[in-house]
Amino acid sequence: MPALSPTLTEITGGGSDGWEVFMRAREMIAAGTPVTELTIGEHDIRTDPIILDAMHASACGGHTGYAMVPGIAALRREVAQRVQERTGVPTGPENVMITPGGQSALFASHLATCPKGKKALFIDPYYATYPGTLRAVGAIATPIEADAKGGFQPRAADIEVQAEGATSLLINSPNNPTGVVYTRNTLDGIAEVCKRRDLWLISDEVYDTQIWEGVHISPRALPDMAERTLVIGSMSKSHAMTGSRVGWIVGPRTAIEHLINLATHTTYGVAGFVQDAALFALEQGPALEAEIAAPFKRRRALTVNILAEQNVVKMISADGAMYVMLDIRATGLSGEAFANRLLDEHHIAVMPGESFGRAAAGHLRVAMTIEDTAYAAALRALCAFAAALCE
Ligand SMILES: Cc1ncc(COP(=O)(O)O)c(C=O)c1O
Repeated sequence: MPALSPTLTEITGGGSDGWEVFMRAREMIAAGTPVTELTIGEHDIRTDPIILDAMHASACGGHTGYAMVPGIAALRREVAQRVQERTGVPTGPENVMITPGGQSALFASHLATCPKGKKALFIDPYYATYPGTLRAVGAIATPIEADAKGGFQPRAADIEVQAEGATSLLINSPNNPTGVVYTRNTLDGIAEVCKRRDLWLISDEVYDTQIWEGVHISPRALPDMAERTLVIGSMSKSHAMTGSRVGWIVGPRTAIEHLINLATHTTYGVAGFVQDAALFALEQGPALEAEIAAPFKRRRALTVNILAEQNVVKMISADGAMYVMLDIRATGLSGEAFANRLLDEHHIAVMPGESFGRAAAGHLRVAMTIEDTAYAAALRALCAFAAALCE
């Protein structure tokens, strides 16, 4: 076989991909051992049948041919209106491109803003695909640690240190894996660095409908940021449509025009019947979004109550998203060692913090993605296991 391009072969960076506990859990399940899985960011409900009905009607109505590459006009309009209503930033369809999911939007946004060999900054702890996505466009993926001591809020001064030679900064709030929502103060600091150092800000807001405390602030709405911000959105988490692969990029008109050229030469758009279903789902308004977010809000409250019963495992203030980050450093084990033993000894699978970068070492990410009773039982077992380690 002729050599493959290093751009492809170096996407994973060669090291561990951090999914070992998850893979082992899946192997145990395949071998017949029941495992409680709190690993993956996927709802325990399926896409609402009313959305599927809209998809079916669209496909049967003939919307199965090529769809407009930037997205169907009505969906671009709907997304623009949603963004404008929620952020106050004037936004039209010309500021929106529909993509096959948020992941594809992340890739396209970095291709748009990071010339080969330039630094692309991102915050550690990070969503597992970030470093690989940045490497896939030929950028030098450069993490900036936001540590547990600072509540996993990134500090502008740390970004400034890495800004030389960088063209973009990727942030994610509400955050996967920590559940932290960036404060106004954090975002103001980030915006100032981006303006001072002429950086693009890529703001991954795929969890914007899952806010338990405080408010979601889109940094695109901060002064003079709309011209240097690309917002990543997705129907995956807000509408339990992970498999439909539909998301978007919101940004300056010129950037969107060039991104449409990229889509023409890569994805060639998103299936028309999927876009019609997404439009129907968005038209249902915030009530449907709240209904889909409700189980996580409930389980987050459950988590707070269960953790209050003990004092070994500490919870990082999780103000949004479908995860909680637990500090298990009091046990003396690394996140990896703890997660592996929890899987072997109690058949509960959680993600080690180390899977998401250096800053989350000694932590666990727990996805609140199983029904309440089983979730509470697993969490209590996790806390009891941690307590036993400290005896
Ligand atoms: C922070 C974050 N960004 C982006 C994505 C990608 O989502 P999708 O491609 O399903 O829209 C995910 C998925 O888990 C995520 O957690």
